[in-house]
Amino acid sequence: QLSDPYRFVLEEAPYTRLCSTKNILTVNGEFPGPTIRVNAGDQITVDVYNKGKYNVTIHWHGVNQLRYPWSDGPEYITQCPIQPGGKFSQKLILSTEEGTIWWHAHSNWTRATVYGAIFVYPKPGTTYPFPKPDAEVPIILGGWWKRDIMAVYEQFIATGGVPNQSDAFTINGQPGDLYPCSKSETFKLNVDQGKTYLLRMVNADVNDILFFAVAGHPITVVGADGSYTKPLTRDYIAIAPGQTLDALLHANQQPDHYYMAARAYFTAINVDFDRSTTTAIVQYNGNYTPSPSLSLPYLPNYNDTSASFNFSSSLRSLASEDHPVSVPKNVTTQLITTVSVNTLPCIPNGTCQGPNGTRFSASMNNISFILPSIDILQAYYGHIKGVYGDHFPKYPPYIFNFTDEYLPLNLEIPKLGTEVYILDYNSTVEIVFQGTNLVAGIDHPMHLHGHSFYVVGLGQGNFDPEKDPLGYNLVDPPYRNTVTVPKNGWSTIRFKADNPGVWFMHCHLDRHLTWGMDMVFIVRDGDQWDERMLPPPPDMPPC
Ligand code: C2O
Ligand code: CU
Repeated sequence: QLSDPYRFVLEEAPYTRLCSTKNILTVNGEFPGPTIRVNAGDQITVDVYNKGKYNVTIHWHGVNQLRYPWSDGPEYITQCPIQPGGKFSQKLILSTEEGTIWWHAHSNWTRATVYGAIFVYPKPGTTYPFPKPDAEVPIILGGWWKRDIMAVYEQFIATGGVPNQSDAFTINGQPGDLYPCSKSETFKLNVDQGKTYLLRMVNADVNDILFFAVAGHPITVVGADGSYTKPLTRDYIAIAPGQTLDALLHANQQPDHYYMAARAYFTAINVDFDRSTTTAIVQYNGNYTPSPSLSLPYLPNYNDTSASFNFSSSLRSLASEDHPVSVPKNVTTQLITTVSVNTLPCIPNGTCQGPNGTRFSASMNNISFILPSIDILQAYYGHIKGVYGDHFPKYPPYIFNFTDEYLPLNLEIPKLGTEVYILDYNSTVEIVFQGTNLVAGIDHPMHLHGHSFYVVGLGQGNFDPEKDPLGYNLVDPPYRNTVTVPKNGWSTIRFKADNPGVWFMHCHLDRHLTWGMDMVFIVRDGDQWDERMLPPPPDMPPC
């Protein structure tokens, strides 16, 4: 068990999956990486040593890092990468987060193998807003490539096409017994009949939203993205990359063994994707004769948009006396942004495997984000000119029928840029994400660093500024850090910009992140001393 200060050594280690062995980047040789256990409101230090071959950074996903963006981690947004041989001492500053969150690498696609859970327990002297579970278990969903992830990433960049699919999905790093050479290593959860287990779930997969279920056992969701929810009992859940859920599993069935399983929810047409199913086993303790075979739980079809939509739109904040909500009522800053997949003309001599000889790209309000070569936080703090612009548009530059079935090709081409949007301290912000049907309509899990936000509404089709706000939930909307924008639909979030700093916002499907579905908020300092960014630590990695 690790303790403060934690020591995270990034190093390669051999792992065998799907009948072959390769070296992967790990933290402390572990895959999935170590679990961090803290209490709400804690501050801890993690000393990160890079003993790998590549530049890398670590992000604490869901930790809001009040006034301290220096430790947030996204490469070229708040820091330059930790170079091989380098060390960076990072602080985790928790405030209201409670439940399950996670950490992962935030440099190209290194997070494919570099991730782990963060359990945030109630403050000492307080308890869960549900009966105390008998045990807690991380259930981390991910993917596995037989190839080296850096090679997959480089090929993806070089071809301009869709990336190579993973070869398996995983539960706690294991593909499970439906895959070759995986049976004996399948993750097993041993349970006692009558007990309750808190599943601390993370979707750490690089590119896919997943459906998950346990055969014979509906699960009760009690938290999402480090915030408690009203209990929601479901036969299956949908979880997007970047999202976390806390769910109770009641071991109240006939003693036996039962599958838990996950597989992709994927809606872009004409694109091949990983249709395989990962499994783990819930195994009751005791003397009984187990059924000769296990059956898979029901999981919605891969393209079942309404199954995903119904699940995400059913979550509600707990909104209790101990866990109140404070949804901003008066919006001072409204942004409406399209989230689109795009195409760009082929680069000379490129292979350009996108549609009609183009290369794929992605954008927000028609700007495809380009990472700068020194980080934006440093440029902002040090008044370095020419690193970023402050012209991220408040509204879509073109209004068209965003979700129409046929959209003219000339709308597909985005501008390139490194544009931020500057927010005043304590402004109350509303963002409407509008999905588009350019190139491929698909769901986008949009993630904001530095703040959690209320998801006040979501719907299908084009956002209607007259009608849709009438249906907003300002009473008990879920408080999240990653919201799924439904395929050819929209989502609206609200938050108070009370965390001064530089905060990345992007799609958590890494192929879209890499293609440019990203933007950055700079939240200005307030007037009081405790409303300003803290100074940088002395060991910020050099560019
Ligand atoms: Cu979970 Cu910007 O990341
Ligand atoms: Cu996306």
